[in-house]
Amino acid sequence: MKMLIVGASGQIGFNLYQALAGSHQVTGTYFSYPMLDMYSLDMTKQGIVKDFITVLNPDIIFLPAALPDVEACEKKPDLCRRVNIDGTRNVLAAAGEINAKVVFFSTDYLFDGAAGPYSETETPKSLNVYGKAKNEAEKLIRQSACPHLIIRTSVVYGYEIQGKNFVVRLDERLRRGEKVKVPNDQFSTPTYVNNLCAIIKELVENDKEGIYNIAGPELLNRYDFAVLAAEIFELDRSLIIPVATEELGQQAIRPLRGGLKIDKIRSVAVTPLMNVREGLIDMKKTMERHSS
Ligand SMILES: NC(=O)c1ccc[n+]([C@@H]2O[C@H](COP(=O)([O-])OP(=O)(O)OC[C@H]3O[C@@H](n4cnc5c(N)ncnc54)[C@H](OP(=O)(O)O)[C@@H]3O)[C@@H](O)[C@H]2O)c1
Repeated sequence: MKMLIVGASGQIGFNLYQALAGSHQVTGTYFSYPMLDMYSLDMTKQGIVKDFITVLNPDIIFLPAALPDVEACEKKPDLCRRVNIDGTRNVLAAAGEINAKVVFFSTDYLFDGAAGPYSETETPKSLNVYGKAKNEAEKLIRQSACPHLIIRTSVVYGYEIQGKNFVVRLDERLRRGEKVKVPNDQFSTPTYVNNLCAIIKELVENDKEGIYNIAGPELLNRYDFAVLAAEIFELDRSLIIPVATEELGQQAIRPLRGGLKIDKIRSVAVTPLMNVREGLIDMKKTMERHSS
């Protein structure tokens, strides 16, 4: 199949690119982080997006591109809207011109975190600008005439070129001997990026549509996740300080009991969901391979 990944320079997009490139004809785009053999594309530019997509004419468009920084979205709601909602609308309109399928990426931040983990059928009720924007963008996808697949996921970690995810940053800070405050009241279902992308590959190759939660099988708080990462990466866990979310002084309200239920994906996917220990061990091996 001919595939386009808008946002292939990001954590999920790049891993998806690697998972798909061996068996499909894949084109990737970046925005601010130039990547060899990929194209520059700003999804907020309607005309450019339309021309790029209609000329390329892919069967499937993956859209991991977003502004997923929760604090940045809270501080710059206009930018959040422009990228996460208007950008999605632009890609969707172009996909409609060529009847391409759209694979959109969404989040457990759609929910208020009062009673997670959440199933695909629960009604979103977001607490912050990021979550509300993702919900709006999801609605555009669901209401469009394009065939579509919506992947909801939660706290994604793994090796990535730009090194932005929680575990990569934790690893860097602990190696420098810094103390790191980590909330012990934010629960999620951490998801290993390679595992996520292998399952997405399976779904698209079986032409699945609709909403699927793809997340790790364990609900755990950020502090316990950090301690497990320190153990597996052989770092000093005593540098990790458990705190309540409110002590961090963050601007965006966090859903405390988040995470996603995975019964639906388990009923269709052959690839098993990796638990956090398995994911972190694989991540460590991947990082060692890349640094040698
Ligand atoms: N990571 C998580 O824990 C998590 C959890 C739940 C859901 N999600 C969702 O999964 C998706 C991917 O997340 P991620 O962690 O892979 O994010 P990421 O690493 O920050 O990647 C975001 C991608 O979007 C691109 N981008 C940003 N602004 C753009 C613009 N104006 N036009 C075109 N591309 C633009 C970035 O390009 P440059 O880097 O080149 O600027 C990058 O390739 C997002 O939709 C997010 O909401 C992520």
